[in-house]
Amino acid sequence: MANQLLSTVERRETLPESYIRPESDRPRLAEVKNDSNIPLIDLASPDKQRVIAEIGLACCTYGFFQVINHGIAEDLLNKVMAVGLQFFRLPPEEKAKLYSDEPSKKIRLSTSFNVRKETVHNWRDYLRLHCHPLEEFLPEWPSNPEPFKEVISTYCREVRRLGLRLLGAISLSLGLEEDHIEKVLGEQEQHMAVNYYPPCPEPDLTYGLPKHTDPNALTILLQDPNVAGLQVLKDDDQWIAVNPQPNALVINLGDQLQALSNGVYKSVWHRAVVNAAHERMSVASFLCPCNSAVISPAARLVCGGDAPVYRSYTYDEYYRKFWSRNLDQEHCLELFRSSQPQ
Ligand code: OGA
Ligand code: NI
Repeated sequence: MANQLLSTVERRETLPESYIRPESDRPRLAEVKNDSNIPLIDLASPDKQRVIAEIGLACCTYGFFQVINHGIAEDLLNKVMAVGLQFFRLPPEEKAKLYSDEPSKKIRLSTSFNVRKETVHNWRDYLRLHCHPLEEFLPEWPSNPEPFKEVISTYCREVRRLGLRLLGAISLSLGLEEDHIEKVLGEQEQHMAVNYYPPCPEPDLTYGLPKHTDPNALTILLQDPNVAGLQVLKDDDQWIAVNPQPNALVINLGDQLQALSNGVYKSVWHRAVVNAAHERMSVASFLCPCNSAVISPAARLVCGGDAPVYRSYTYDEYYRKFWSRNLDQEHCLELFRSSQPQ
């Protein structure tokens, strides 16, 4: 059951046992705050200093923000969502060719999160792709549906450009040189998860993705424009819905930016919930440090007497640790605290 794609089985009336969370770990959807004010930042604003200040504030409060006027055309965003859905509607035998639950594979279609490790499954299928350098990975990508390669590769290029621009703004917002973060992260990898959450018979009992932080540097999420599902944790106890805004992209900081900023900026817990009536899709693009990048706090952030919160490590070491665990354990960065025995 676990390694069967949800998108290939008949709609169910009840939730299979292996997806049911224990009582103490359910989404409690009625308690989620809906009138959220996750910052919405206009990247085309002529007041660049203000944009940087807004980004800085968003990074140390919510760890999440949405951007509009980000330079990626609405038409392209629509095409990405459409081709993603087409992909998940392919016949089972077509999708079976891509199925794998081995996290190190550079292209794979899978389900839940880490079916080899987890005890309870998640109501999600996902296609994971490595996207940089494109020429290296593109030949392995699905050529069915026909527009997939062209649409997704165009989007990947544009998302990368946006991501690097945001890393520049984030560096400036920390009082660092604009290229500081990019230099530390090296030639960044870029991965994509096309997430598909089918309608779920009992959404109160399970998750699409349970509470987690992203292990990478920066995540850019294109969410379904019509169906909400992403929620972020504020002040340790309040879940807030990040409702889709027209043509916006959701940005969140991953663990590496929390480490680089010496804990000033947060890699915030977030989750995806599912619903009974509608399928939902999201496309997450992850910018990741190159494997050999040594992650440690920027010197300027530890020179005023603030001790480094985390020890130095390579991204390779971090990523292995992340995938060796279950998704909803303690914050993976906790294992890299300076005081932690090595
Ligand atoms: C992720 C993620 C949220 C969503 O893929 O890491 O947090 O709404 N996705 O699908
Ligand atoms: Ni995430």
